[in-house]
Amino acid sequence: MSESFDVIVIGAGPGGYVCAIRAAQLGLKVACVEKRATLGGTCLNIGCIPSKALLQSSEEFDHARHALADHGVLVDSVTLDLARMQARKGEVVGANTKGVEFLFRKNKVTWLKGTGRITAPGTVEVDGTAHAAKHIVIATGSESVPLPGVAVDEKRIVTSTGALELDAVPGHLVVIGGGYIGLELGSVWRRLGAEVTVVEFLDRITPTMDGEVARNFQRILQKQGIRFRLGTKVTRAVTGDDGVTLTLEPAAGGTAETLKSDIVLLAIGRRPYVEELGLDAVGVALDERGRVKTDAHYATNVSGIYAIGDAIAGPMLAHKAEEEGVAVAELLAGKPGHVNYGAIPGVVYTWPEVASVGETEEALKQAGVAYNVGKFPFTANGRARAMGEIEGFVKLLADKATDRLLGAHIIGPDAGTLIAELVTAMEFGASAEDVARTCHAHPSLNEAVKEAALAVEGRALHI
Ligand code: FAD
Ligand code: NAI
Repeated sequence: MSESFDVIVIGAGPGGYVCAIRAAQLGLKVACVEKRATLGGTCLNIGCIPSKALLQSSEEFDHARHALADHGVLVDSVTLDLARMQARKGEVVGANTKGVEFLFRKNKVTWLKGTGRITAPGTVEVDGTAHAAKHIVIATGSESVPLPGVAVDEKRIVTSTGALELDAVPGHLVVIGGGYIGLELGSVWRRLGAEVTVVEFLDRITPTMDGEVARNFQRILQKQGIRFRLGTKVTRAVTGDDGVTLTLEPAAGGTAETLKSDIVLLAIGRRPYVEELGLDAVGVALDERGRVKTDAHYATNVSGIYAIGDAIAGPMLAHKAEEEGVAVAELLAGKPGHVNYGAIPGVVYTWPEVASVGETEEALKQAGVAYNVGKFPFTANGRARAMGEIEGFVKLLADKATDRLLGAHIIGPDAGTLIAELVTAMEFGASAEDVARTCHAHPSLNEAVKEAALAVEGRALHI
């Protein structure tokens, strides 16, 4: 046995590295196993951070081409230096992953480099060397879901990983799946000049989102030039010299047709990645979707083994993984760790952004909960007008009897930042009236949130 620890975390994504840091802050002796050459997991290396870098850069390009003239800013010609854009993305990723390395050193977390395997409760083998731990936390994340008949080569048929690395703008990009990845990365390549077609199995995009918001979102993306084929499935992809030919069929069955594309992005969801852990041998149970089964305290069925993040149930989001990392570290240190799953925001970082927290209208109807709706459009917000960003609205759902906020949905400029106020309000159990009576700076986009809260009682002032 090489060295023994209080906690060994397997996986250094936002769930794992945050868990390791918090456990070390609480005085535990901690190691984190990571097989990738850099820390930060999917999120920092091939997920949140590189995608947001390209979203930002492509937004700047699009803004320079289509919006600056309206502001009276005339630019002679705008051209794309994709190599520089990609290099910048690499620099952003590098700074972030090195930042986690610094935090490990600062907090005295040992990085065990290599692939971790649980050989027995209390023992993690890393590339052949055994390490002892009182507690083991599985934080191995997720991978993209494959589609039969569509063989990923990360060159012509790519997952998000390949779509972040393209060295030329595709003529026609076909995206399979109208969810978070498809719409964010579809937006990047659309802005940079690609024709983009999104093929979605269901009759709507972003299935977990409030229906009204999703319909508006689709309309706005269509105005930006993205085409949608809803209620359609891809049954085959054949790669040839001139690109990829896809076979499409109506989801409900019917006549097949073909669609040509230069690049295909497969983005139909992600699934837990626990492949190399040896869970069978130690008897850790998985659920019917291959997720590690845990109780409310993140404990698996095997004593001393815990799991968090994308590897367990719940939304596959970095901040959800982080909250769970903190909670399990606190529980292991004898403190009351807890995550409020009713107040986890979700944000799609397109432009406009789409953000939500809590219940959708559809979910409330299904649960038979009586609610009031308050809505306010950005067309009536002074700051949005000044910015030239008037698309979208804020929509709040409040309990009919108590006025307690049950859900908040925003499509509009900087929605991902605006939602934070409502997450805080919901965390504190606020009513719509609490938000409505809070002073909001003028002129700010946040005033649209206040007005939507006023609208819950039918007393918005500026519409
Ligand atoms: P991961 O980040 O997947 O980290 C797991 C780590 O474990 C990996 O580094 C892996 O190498 C390592 N590992 C696995 N098995 C072993 C082993 N046996 N031994 C050693 N190491 C191992 N979420 C958001 O909230 N906001 C976003 O904007 C966002 N954008 C995204 C964009 C894309 C393109 C993708 C793909 C995802 C995005 N996500 C986003 C989701 C987010 O990345 C995940 O929810 C998050 O990374 C999950 O964190 P995690 O710690 O559970 O796992
Ligand atoms: P997703 O679950 O968001 O969307 C997948 C879409 O594909 C759904 O609309 C689904 O109906 C559709 N689909 C499923 N099977 C299909 C098929 N055979 N043919 C056509 N369409 C099909 O998954 P996605 O976009 O792959 O992203 C994975 C996860 O990563 C997200 O759910 C999210 O948790 C996370 N993520 C978060 C981001 C953020 O927070 N901004 C950004 C990117 C990813």
